[in-house]
Order: sequence, then structure tokens, then C-alpha cells
Amino acid sequence: MSKRSLISITDLTKEEILRIAELAAYFEEHPYEPLLQGRVIASLFFEPSTRTRLSFESAMNRLGARVIGFSDATNTSVSKGETFHDTIQVISNYCDMIVMRHSLEGAPRYASEFSKVPIVNAGDGANQHPSQTLLDIYSIKKTQGRLDNINIMMVGDLKYGRTVHSLLQALSHFNPTFTFVSPEELQMPREYTMFLDQLGISYTVKREIDEAINEADIVYMTRVQKERYSDPMEYERMKNVYVLKNSMLENVKPTMKILHPLPRVGEIEQEVDANPHAYYFNQTENGVYTRMAIISYLLGVKK
Ligand code: CP
Repeated sequence: MSKRSLISITDLTKEEILRIAELAAYFEEHPYEPLLQGRVIASLFFEPSTRTRLSFESAMNRLGARVIGFSDATNTSVSKGETFHDTIQVISNYCDMIVMRHSLEGAPRYASEFSKVPIVNAGDGANQHPSQTLLDIYSIKKTQGRLDNINIMMVGDLKYGRTVHSLLQALSHFNPTFTFVSPEELQMPREYTMFLDQLGISYTVKREIDEAINEADIVYMTRVQKERYSDPMEYERMKNVYVLKNSMLENVKPTMKILHPLPRVGEIEQEVDANPHAYYFNQTENGVYTRMAIISYLLGVKK
């Protein structure tokens, strides 16, 4: 089996991103394919998760692998003082791949330097969430019929929201138009706008959703990341800055879709769920097929 990790979306070429989207489409048609019978995959979540952990574990099971791991590191010997290094070193003896989430940026990259088996980053701090991006890419391709020339509006916490960082980099292969809507305090970090500047990709910055929603193919909503705030009062001030409502969707493009990595905590009114532009729950289903694609691609198993 090959040993290929996925730490950042920039670890993949444009062709590989397209290949994984193609594989996801295959797995959507064939959702139970025991390509990994007899293999063991570890699912290590040092930080809470619903979608990423359970869709990865569903993907592992659908591929026929056995799953080991934890959803709360306090039940492991980490609570006795064992280091992250030793924990990963040991678990990499027990499995063929490690999928891990950690609150510390760079933890998966560090793990990949000494793990015997591939590491898949399931989200590290405010840094990267490449598997989310690949399912977002699959969702965009499915709903728009293309990835090229997409006009995408990213809304909310663009500073701490790791999903928008990875997605921006993946879409940069496809001549996108970006609009960033955030409070000044939560704007897209300079390293990502510099990344776009270097590639000659344009973006505009707005403070209100209404200013650009009618031109968008994709509206990508995000949650204000409570867990990244040290000051609870600051979080309270920011949390409801943007709330998407049906009344804001009256003049949007007919094909426009609303994506959100979820969980939402109030930034999309529940009334929007029944709106034909809402796609965020379908997006979660795409996560299973995309994660089947990621695992089988990285492990080099073929139909
Ligand atoms: N989208 C996402 O990462 O959700 P979870 O935190 O529930 O995994």
C-alpha cells in the first residue's frame, strides 16, 4: 500500500483534486465497495466533531476496513501525560492509516513526519480542513456542472474558519471570482489574500451579504468559531453579525446554492432549509463519498 498523507489541500495537484471528485461520483453510485477488507484505519479526534468523524468512519466501514480510535483524548493515556509524539508513534503500529483532528495548527504535519502510516488531516486549529474542501469541491461540481469560473461569496468568520482557507486554495486552480464578507476583525488572513495576489486572482471585500449575493454562484456561509476565542465577550459581539434569511434570496441566480460546512449556530435561519437554494444538508452526504474517495486514493487501492 502506498504511504501518502493529506495534510493541506496544497498537497494535491489540480488533476488529483479532479480525480478525487471523479472517484467521489463513483462511490456515490457504488456506496459499498469492500476495497479495504482486512485493513485497519484509526480515527483520532483530539477535538470535537460530528460530520467529519462520523462520515470518515462511515466511509471506512463502507470500504470494508475496521475502525479503531477515539472521539475524546481524555479517555486515552494522553490524560496520564503521554506526549502527542508517543501517542501517534504507538497507534501507527496498529493501523494502515490515521485520520486525525487536532486543535493545534500543524499537529497533523508533525505527525506525518514520524508516523509509519499515512496521516489525513481532519482539521487542525484555524489552519486547514482539506477533506472538507474536497467535499465542497464535489458539491460545487455537482450543483454547478463545472468548477471553472465560479463566483463564490464567503461569509462570516474568514479568519478562524479553516474550511474557507482550504477552499480558497483549491478553487484557485479554476479561475474563481471571490467576494469576502466579514467583519473587519474576522477578515481573510493576509497570507491567503497574498496567495491570491501572487496568482493574479481578484477578490472583493464587502461588509454586507446584500452587496454581492445576486452575482454569486455559491454562497459559502461559516460559523463564528467560538472555540478560537479567548474572550467570551468578543465572541458574543461577533456571533450574530450575519444571518441569512429567505428575504435575502429573492433576486439571486436560479442556480445559486448555499453551502455551509456546519455546524450552524444561527447564521442561517431555519426557514432557509426548505429554500431550493439550500444545499448544506446534501453537502454532508457528499462527505461520505468524498471521504471514501480520499481514503482509497491515498492508499492506492484500485477498483
Ligand atoms: N464540517 C465539520 O468539520 O463539521 P464537524 O466539526 O462536525 O466535523
